[in-house]
Amino acid sequence: MRVALLYNVKKDSEEVTESNSQEKDSKKDFSKYLNENLVKNYPERLDDTFAEWDSEETIDALKAAIETGGHEVTLIEADVDAYDKLKNIRPEFVFNVAEGELAVSRESQFPAIMEMLDIPFTGSDSISIGICHDKSRCKEVLSYYNVPNSSFFITDNVNEVPTDLTYPRFVKPLHEGSSKGIFNSSVANNIDELKSEITRIKDCYDQPALVEDFLTGKEFTVALMGNGSDVRVLPIVEINLDAVPSDFNKIYSYEVKWFFDTRENQLDIFRCPANVSDELYQAIEKVCKDAFKVLRLRDWARMDVRLDSNGVPNIIEINPLPGILPDPLDNSCYPKAARNAGMDYNAMINAVLNEAVKRYSKETK
Ligand SMILES: Nc1ncnc2c1ncn2[C@@H]1O[C@H](COP(=O)(O)OP(=O)(O)OP(=O)(O)O)[C@@H](O)[C@H]1O
Ligand SMILES: [Mg+2]
Repeated sequence: MRVALLYNVKKDSEEVTESNSQEKDSKKDFSKYLNENLVKNYPERLDDTFAEWDSEETIDALKAAIETGGHEVTLIEADVDAYDKLKNIRPEFVFNVAEGELAVSRESQFPAIMEMLDIPFTGSDSISIGICHDKSRCKEVLSYYNVPNSSFFITDNVNEVPTDLTYPRFVKPLHEGSSKGIFNSSVANNIDELKSEITRIKDCYDQPALVEDFLTGKEFTVALMGNGSDVRVLPIVEINLDAVPSDFNKIYSYEVKWFFDTRENQLDIFRCPANVSDELYQAIEKVCKDAFKVLRLRDWARMDVRLDSNGVPNIIEINPLPGILPDPLDNSCYPKAARNAGMDYNAMINAVLNEAVKRYSKETK
């Protein structure tokens, strides 16, 4: 097939476009909210503008992987010129990893364009991908179908905070990924800390804060592949929060993901498959399959799950475009789960593509 790979690539700071640089300038510096030593030791990691985008290395590995499936691959960067390219090239299939750039709908924009141009693509449709990107909308759907997730409210106004809340609370930006805006301080132990976090998220990310019950139990991340009744759960990854430095909260924060766990100095943060009872393993699989179904996801997704104080697996959040760093030295959960299921990177990418192709062929029958 003639496949186009649609992506956003991380830019060097010199390369940023005019609109990006405006966005950067208007964004407040978040370093005042971080541990002083981290700020001093890792100045190059203090800009999270493009944290969700893929590196050149990932794009190259993806292209090579799709080629090993016998396909001809064209690269299309998901920028403002991509619409014309898609229209003119008319690929037979798009492998979509585009995170998009502007607005809450950014991950939905290219799926919507491909739906309009009637070009088949991998992954979820514009509606489901958009719902997952707004964490509160996603939780509303889950709650409607009784899929466990922590109770929450959203606010950008510190004067709206109820005075009778119990603590701790977890506070995060409403629509970010890659742990952007999730710092050690996201665990609020009292109303003053909660207000400070709401202010931080408004100032640094210009969006409301999602304030949730803090889930205290073990954490997992779960890769799913397939469609309908054939969705399968790849080996569950357990997040070993004991590997988080002892003076930090037990959460998989921006600091842990981007400062502590590096290629040179890998944290012992993952266990795959998770070492839990069969009963819990199956309960985690079930909650994830239920979420996949009610959100009408397609082909693949990665879900974060954490146990509440009763040991019940709750969905934390859902990534219909999971991170897929190719180098096993980079701790990337979807490829890790796939490797554990016996699929190397190329096999994993072609399996996702084949799931999508199979889905379209069933739809057109
Ligand atoms: N309600 C909660 N209770 C306890 N911990 C939480 C809660 N919500 C998030 N966390 C912690 O914060 C981490 C990051 O949160 P979340 O997964 O929502 O962020 P993200 O940026 O969307 O992640 P990703 O990098 O997977 O896209 C989780 O992995 C978990 O450790
Ligand atoms: Mg997450």
